[in-house]
Amino acid sequence: MRPGAPLRGTCDAPGDKSITQRAILIGALAAGETRITGANDGADARAALRIARDLGVSARARGAGSWVLRGGALRESDRVLDARNSGTALRLSMGLLAAQPFLSILTGDESLRKRPVGRVVEPLRLLGARISARQEDRLPPVAIQGGSLRGAAVRTPVASAQVKSAVLLAAVQAEGASTLEEPEPTRDHTERMLPRFGADLARENGRIRVRGPARLQGTEVRVPGDLSAAAFLIAGALLAPRSDLTIRNVGVNPTRRAFLDLLARSGASLELGDERMLDAEPVADLRVRPGTLRPFQLGAKECGAMIDELPLVAVLAAFAEGESTIRGASELRVKESDRIDAVTRGLRAIGADVEEHADGWSIRGVGRPRGGVVDASGDHRIAMAFLIAGLRARNGVTVTGAEAASVSDPGFLARLRAVRR
Ligand code: S3P
Repeated sequence: MRPGAPLRGTCDAPGDKSITQRAILIGALAAGETRITGANDGADARAALRIARDLGVSARARGAGSWVLRGGALRESDRVLDARNSGTALRLSMGLLAAQPFLSILTGDESLRKRPVGRVVEPLRLLGARISARQEDRLPPVAIQGGSLRGAAVRTPVASAQVKSAVLLAAVQAEGASTLEEPEPTRDHTERMLPRFGADLARENGRIRVRGPARLQGTEVRVPGDLSAAAFLIAGALLAPRSDLTIRNVGVNPTRRAFLDLLARSGASLELGDERMLDAEPVADLRVRPGTLRPFQLGAKECGAMIDELPLVAVLAAFAEGESTIRGASELRVKESDRIDAVTRGLRAIGADVEEHADGWSIRGVGRPRGGVVDASGDHRIAMAFLIAGLRARNGVTVTGAEAASVSDPGFLARLRAVRR
């Protein structure tokens, strides 16, 4: 990617990956038809769809981003279920399958097999799940002998929406009431979606209460644009002079929008228009123009609320004038790559001044780093963050392994090209 043309005009973001995967897996559990529109078309969403199909769900495409699922009668798969690169597909499936009366084996690609599952195994056991995993229950593959569960009071060990969602998918199938508390609030798409399928779920004083077993019924899910994917376009329009870009129909759920709040308070020109609800989720049109970013300091609480945007935030810090620090983000070590290490190497490769910490970075921004060649580390968000850096780095940025972007946004480069003029 090279500097030059601005990003101008109007475009869409791909469908939200988290919401798409939830719609597929809850739709698998629900009786009757679930119609999903605006779905994410990346490899992660397709991994969730494949798991649903392997469990006996019928899924028919009805044009781009549109699926009709027929669920509610899951059966044992004669194959190992493969979540590929997707932590969400793997961990949510663990909750889903803990209550299904058959054996399931779940695995993933080389990266996913290094990512922790003990954080899901432990709380599911409180509901009576029979579940074990490799290396003393720490790593995939995971074996689940599904069976009847009973409601329980659960406090999730880490602030993770995947862990919380796995517990909720088990709790809706369990006998009796469950309560769930998390150390910090995380994205709440599962809580918003489950009642639309008929689950008895209430939120009170930071706690979630579920009464099971629910008889989930298929419904319609219209998926908003993915803010975590739109973030790359937003950053591109901030960095490329003379840009004026509007991204339509982007999810602005309060548990996801910390990135927007950070940019707004750091001097970015960002407007939210036509704020509205799409089913249970708030959406808006986002208009972005270039701006000079002031350096910023982020701690654990804020990092958690923009965890997927942090590689991009670190890249943006390299283009600000002055020192930014991002701390309390050690979860990044167990994402699709070790994102702290991958970003440090990428920033150094483009000539930025970065100091790595166990839980983040200190980055001394110089306005316009030189550019260079960056390895995507097989990680979609690393690939896209550094492609965006190329829009402003003096000599551009070449990303090797950039095809990793297709995990969440197969149309990323085409969308970017369409708005560069
Ligand atoms: C996700 C939750 C987050 C996020 C991931 C998607 C989800 O992971 O990083 O990209 O869909 O629930 P954790 O739950 O591990 O924090």
